[in-house]
Amino acid sequence: MWGGRFAAGPAEVMEQINASISFDQRLYAQDIAGSKAHCAMLVDQAIISAEDGAAILSGLDTILSEIEAGRFVFKASLEDIHMNIEARLRDLIGEAAGRLHTARSRNDQVALDVRLWTRDAIDRLDPALRDLQAALIDQAEREADTIMPGYTHLQAAQPVTLGHHLMAYVEMLGRDRARLADCRQRLNESPLGAAALAGTSFPIDRAATARSLGFDRPMANSMDAVADRDYVLEFIAAGSILALHLSRFAEELVLWCSAGFRFVELSDAFTTGSSIMPQKRNPDAAELIRGKAGRVIGALNSLLTVMKGLPMTYGKDMQEDKEPLFDAADTLQLCVTAMTGMVRDMRARPEDLRQATDHGFITATDLADWLVRRLDMPFRQAHHVTGSIVRLAEERDCALADLPLAAMQEVEPRIDAEVFEVLSVEKAVASRNSEGGTAPEAVRRAIAAARERFL
Ligand code: ARG
Repeated sequence: MWGGRFAAGPAEVMEQINASISFDQRLYAQDIAGSKAHCAMLVDQAIISAEDGAAILSGLDTILSEIEAGRFVFKASLEDIHMNIEARLRDLIGEAAGRLHTARSRNDQVALDVRLWTRDAIDRLDPALRDLQAALIDQAEREADTIMPGYTHLQAAQPVTLGHHLMAYVEMLGRDRARLADCRQRLNESPLGAAALAGTSFPIDRAATARSLGFDRPMANSMDAVADRDYVLEFIAAGSILALHLSRFAEELVLWCSAGFRFVELSDAFTTGSSIMPQKRNPDAAELIRGKAGRVIGALNSLLTVMKGLPMTYGKDMQEDKEPLFDAADTLQLCVTAMTGMVRDMRARPEDLRQATDHGFITATDLADWLVRRLDMPFRQAHHVTGSIVRLAEERDCALADLPLAAMQEVEPRIDAEVFEVLSVEKAVASRNSEGGTAPEAVRRAIAAARERFL
């Protein structure tokens, strides 16, 4: 492509380090769409002839079908997707192929392709996230009354419902979707027409190409247009937060299906057996979702590091944006889809969940609240009195609800039999009917609202 200035070809290892075709062939559809939009604009602006334009457009269509049929031969000697396609166009239509690159550079071309690809990746991920939210909401509805311990510090804190716990993830995923939508909105400007970095002397119509490629407008500054990879960083950053949400839930599933918890059962479809221990059912999908968060977060670190020292505008370093982007996008799509299947198949174990609330004096806060309400005690004092009663229960190795009234009255004589009303976990859960609270009634309201907001 630049033979005019060069007497010798590249060293073999130069071709190896320079070529990106092994991975950037994934940009073929975006590259062809961008070239078609550019070509149509060149014709409309009378920069190239209608005849050449028609030949270019039909040649590009042929190339698209060759690639989709697996009949296209990608060559490392042609470096990247842009030059592979352009070289093939020359084979197909001859001289006229050389006119396509008028008023364009590979710098705005690749910026355009990657932008379009990232936009498509977001448009694939969002419905997958919506499906995961739907799966969680359905499970939450089924388990709206299922009582389990709620934890802080992984210590049993207060009883909650499994439905409430699952709905927490629906909220996290909602924010993930909003972050991706925000990223999509900001990236949706066209870099095409920035050319190498400074714009062009040809009378191009950037608004027209922007419009035909579904962008809101052309980017305002040609140097920014070819130098910017913020949108890739934003996508992977939003994706990293998503990956960590998936990982936290995956970690809970790993715990929950272990013998120490027995809170849920995962299906055969999302677990594996052990080749030596016949009793085992391993939560591999959950473990891999937890593990793959490392790849996405790694991709973010990788691209931040690539970009941080680059002077304006384009540098070949930026070719290193693609593999982290593709890997992060693929990993996220896979993990979200696997998580959806796992959640759909998952079965809760209500008795075990309920039983786990028998330990840890989980209604102690309810007792303290009762002392405040019934005896008008300042909360700090109620906290202290409750602490003494918990110590009693600990000494006798029994639950709060199983302490004799007389024992409690030794600590606080004004306590009467009505206290037992609040010591049961069922009552404790039902009483937390505040907005966003764990009472089954509140959870059902949250589920209805979430269906409206997200599905
Ligand atoms: N393969 C290159 C990349 O991915 C395309 C842009 C090359 N531009 C250039 N001036 N060498 O970044």
